[in-house]
Amino acid sequence: MKVGIIGSGGREHAICQTVKKSNKIDKIFCFPGNAGTKDIAENINIDLDNFEILKNFILEKKIDLIIVGPEKPLVEGLVDYLEKFKIKVFGPNKIASQLEGSKIFTKQICEKYKIPTASFGIFENKKDSKKFLQSTNYPTVIKADNLASGKGVYICNNENEAIIAIEEIFNGKFGEAKNLLIEEFLKGEEMSFFTIHDGKSFKTFDTAQDHKRVLEGDKGKNTGGMGAYSPSRLINKDLRNKIIEKIIKPTLKGLDELGTKYKGFLYTGLMIVKNEPYLIEYNVRMGDPECQTILPKLKTDITDIFLASCEERLEKIDIEWTNKKSICIVVCSKGYPGTFKKNAQIENLGKITLGKDEYLFHAGTLYKENKVYAVGGRVLNFVSLSEDLKSARYEIINNLNKLKWDGGFYRKDIGYKVID
Ligand code: AMP
Ligand code: GLY
Repeated sequence: MKVGIIGSGGREHAICQTVKKSNKIDKIFCFPGNAGTKDIAENINIDLDNFEILKNFILEKKIDLIIVGPEKPLVEGLVDYLEKFKIKVFGPNKIASQLEGSKIFTKQICEKYKIPTASFGIFENKKDSKKFLQSTNYPTVIKADNLASGKGVYICNNENEAIIAIEEIFNGKFGEAKNLLIEEFLKGEEMSFFTIHDGKSFKTFDTAQDHKRVLEGDKGKNTGGMGAYSPSRLINKDLRNKIIEKIIKPTLKGLDELGTKYKGFLYTGLMIVKNEPYLIEYNVRMGDPECQTILPKLKTDITDIFLASCEERLEKIDIEWTNKKSICIVVCSKGYPGTFKKNAQIENLGKITLGKDEYLFHAGTLYKENKVYAVGGRVLNFVSLSEDLKSARYEIINNLNKLKWDGGFYRKDIGYKVID
């Protein structure tokens, strides 16, 4: 069969490589892919904002299954559009994607179904937002309602910082802002919990812990993710049940009452406080870099899982994993998450030889005249599986020493809470 993957990040390279392992696959197309996917798939550079061009290509090439990696096309309704043309697509529809597309949509579901989450207020203008600050405790959390690649969230330690956040959001830093959220700060440890859905039933996928801050020791600015490990150190049977019963099932009920269903990956971003889960956010896709960390552990053919999800037969599928632990370190362009230089060549990729349980997934890379260039903030993902996280991380650092890439940096301390 022919499969198409939408996206160009490390997550999509990991999906591509995992799909490739299936003996059902004749050909993979990546829209647009990166320098890593080009070795195992055909990269197609078309304008993803133009759904019609994409649809025509899919029909012309007779692609059997489309997998959507990132949130933007999901929130914009790509799944609804392609399904009108009887194209099989893995991912949630436009209404269900509001779980990520609008924090206020999610908070309203939380309120209606009593889902544990930080208490919050929604404000429509600067004046009301600032007035509310008079009764706030610090730190407090201020969030833009729009999709902002993880950057529209401010953790404010005092009124001054809160005012800057309010000004920036309403002045349009993340696009037109009709409102913002001010939220109670939750003190605990974060965890990413993944489930896969077919509209009728769902299965748990795996857990991971992500390091979102740019500097070692979890300091500095928020990023898309500097590294991750799987499974999360926090997961246990009791916590898993609480997440499903108190958070995921009521959310699905909420969607059902809105007349819609959920199909695809659901990423539940949680704060765990004394073994109690609180919902921080939903994402309607796999996490990045959590996906790169988790997929190499999967033993079941992922194409069977995707097809079962599209055909409402997930209940009959057993999803099996290796018992090994997995860790991913992300190499970023110097300057990320701020401004960084584009088109720096990555010279030493040829010096990296990967062992059996090692993986290298590209993210913001471009292949041009036999050379690989960094074109994004997050550039490469090194993943290693092992019986213990310490030796997995050691193997990655060994490879990174061989890479010695001047244009980049990475965190050496991924997983420190479990390893060190
Ligand atoms: P979000 O985009 O909502 O996931 O927020 C990005 C990051 O901000 C999260 O991964 C947390 O690290 C942090 N964050 C968001 N909301 C809260 C909260 N209510 N309390 C503490 N930290 C938060
Ligand atoms: N790693 C965080 C995210 O994918 O949003």
